[in-house]
Amino acid sequence: MSRKLGVCYYPEHWPEDQWPRDAARMKAAGLTLVRIGEFAWSRLEPSPGDLQFDWLDRAVAVLAEAGLEVVMGTPTATPPRWMLDKHPDMLAHDAEGRPRGFGSRRHYCFAHLGYRAEAARIARIMGERYGRDPRVVAWQIDNEYGCHDTTLSYSPAARDGFRDWLAQRYQSTEALNRAWGNVFWSMDYDNFDQIELPNLTVTEPNPSHAMAFRRFASDMVVAFNRAQVNALRPLTDAPLIHNYMGRVTEFDHHDLGTDLEIASWDSYPMGFLMDRVEGDATHKATYLRQGDPDFQAFHHDLYRGVGQDGRWWVMEQQPGPVNWAPWNPAPLPGMVRLWSHEAFAHGAEAVCYFRWRQAPFAQEQMHAGLLRADDAKAPGLTEARQVAEEIAALPEARISRAPVALVFDYPSQWAWEVQPQGADFDYFSLCFEMYRGLRKLGLSVDILPADPARLSGYDLILVPGLLSLSAEMTTFLAETPAQVLIGPRAGSKTPELTMALPLGPGLYDLDVTVTHVESLPPGAGRALTGGGQAERWIEAIESPIPPRITTEDGAPMLLSADRQSYLAAWPDPEALSRILRDLCAQAGINTTKMPEGVRQRVMGPHRLVVNYSPETRIFEDDHLPPAGLLWKLAS
Ligand code: GAL
Repeated sequence: MSRKLGVCYYPEHWPEDQWPRDAARMKAAGLTLVRIGEFAWSRLEPSPGDLQFDWLDRAVAVLAEAGLEVVMGTPTATPPRWMLDKHPDMLAHDAEGRPRGFGSRRHYCFAHLGYRAEAARIARIMGERYGRDPRVVAWQIDNEYGCHDTTLSYSPAARDGFRDWLAQRYQSTEALNRAWGNVFWSMDYDNFDQIELPNLTVTEPNPSHAMAFRRFASDMVVAFNRAQVNALRPLTDAPLIHNYMGRVTEFDHHDLGTDLEIASWDSYPMGFLMDRVEGDATHKATYLRQGDPDFQAFHHDLYRGVGQDGRWWVMEQQPGPVNWAPWNPAPLPGMVRLWSHEAFAHGAEAVCYFRWRQAPFAQEQMHAGLLRADDAKAPGLTEARQVAEEIAALPEARISRAPVALVFDYPSQWAWEVQPQGADFDYFSLCFEMYRGLRKLGLSVDILPADPARLSGYDLILVPGLLSLSAEMTTFLAETPAQVLIGPRAGSKTPELTMALPLGPGLYDLDVTVTHVESLPPGAGRALTGGGQAERWIEAIESPIPPRITTEDGAPMLLSADRQSYLAAWPDPEALSRILRDLCAQAGINTTKMPEGVRQRVMGPHRLVVNYSPETRIFEDDHLPPAGLLWKLAS
């Protein structure tokens, strides 16, 4: 598999006579891919039906003449102003019921059928023009679904769509009333048109109502994307891609990913550390200019599982300071290089930097590019060129299956958001902490949906917090030769977000019942035998099996039978590390205690070791400076 570097470019932002020089400089820097077009709708169709593609034709020609390959974006994340005149009700509405305004981007509701048809129309026009053009090697559909909190919309279009969706799912209001338990507060319906979206209720809505809305909202994103896939697919053989985001969980990426050949995501490690990673002030200060040591890797592994056959890219890579986090320091010298190598070590086919030149105007004028706004080189360009040389010298390799699989399930995220029970019970955090625990032991991890067909061949499988266990999943967990760790909170509910009865988790071969749960505020953790404590969440369980770990007052927290283990608490890092080490030993997986901030990832016969810490670290006799990296043999 060859590895490519690329860049995001906006020809419409620059005078045309600058394009050839830009293209030549990209090529000279070792970049081969250029993504264009994704925000250009107002220049492609300045008024309804007035198509102006000549300039884009010329841009494609200039880039291709310089030896660059084009990734064409459909411009549907930025509908032009006239679209709003044509479809005044296309705006998404916030949870207060207010329409979100024009003047930035993503101002559309995924459920608006008129806008969905417009999106398919422009995709078709572009497909007809460039679908068979060999200079266009891939397509990006839309841009960052869900960005700026746009998945959940409480618009009239969403309400109408929700009613249709409910009618299809439940067939009758009797069935819906039964499934949701609407008898509870006399919430029964006798007509689907009586059902509103679950915002603006006096106190919390029925959790089953809220959960159904979350499933509906996810389906709307999938349907919106599918409309463009259906338009483009007959017109091109080039792969279709979307650029997902860091810690955006409002739609089911595994669902959407089945319609696209390649998954990609936009990696902004320092912005994420500031506003999407949990951690105390010391953690944030330590990794201020590098980003969290596990957050990028988590998403690389997650999106590799979303892409068909594991195909994935980084579509946007932070090249310097961004503009959108609360504070925006510059990356430590060497980090742009490290982030790029790390992506390739997790199997990326391509890494594209965002963006080519800093724009001196509009919302992102404070966002770095590979070039400064005055056209001079920015530090990111030097590192990108170095990466280009280095990856050319790396041997070709395909990523192999990791020893450990971590199950990540989007509906479980929605369920525990709807019904957290404890203010800090967050499903993403639970999965991420388990992932971090594995990485601190030097392990490579695959992140996969709760699909037995994709979980075979692993030595250890972790299933934390999975909303409900299907019969197939329960059978699989009993029969797999892997060690499996289930819980906390796994299998406790039905897919409708009512309680599982008999009480969960309902495992075969591991006789355990969760009888009740407690959530614990910060500082109220309970000490565990062997060290560490349970935080945030603790379950009371009934089981005839002698526990491996209990609280200090004897409540069972971890018990195992044969190859299945149930974990009845949210363990702190110390307890988690011990649990994972023991399970790995049982599974025959070697672990290595990694130095603080140092991580490794196996890639075929090789492995990449990176140092995210701000200090030099010694690992296996090698000195790794801050931002240092080393490709070594895998074992
Ligand atoms: C991404 C987005 C880009 C740009 C970038 C800035 O979220 O796709 O268009 O806004 O962030 O960091």
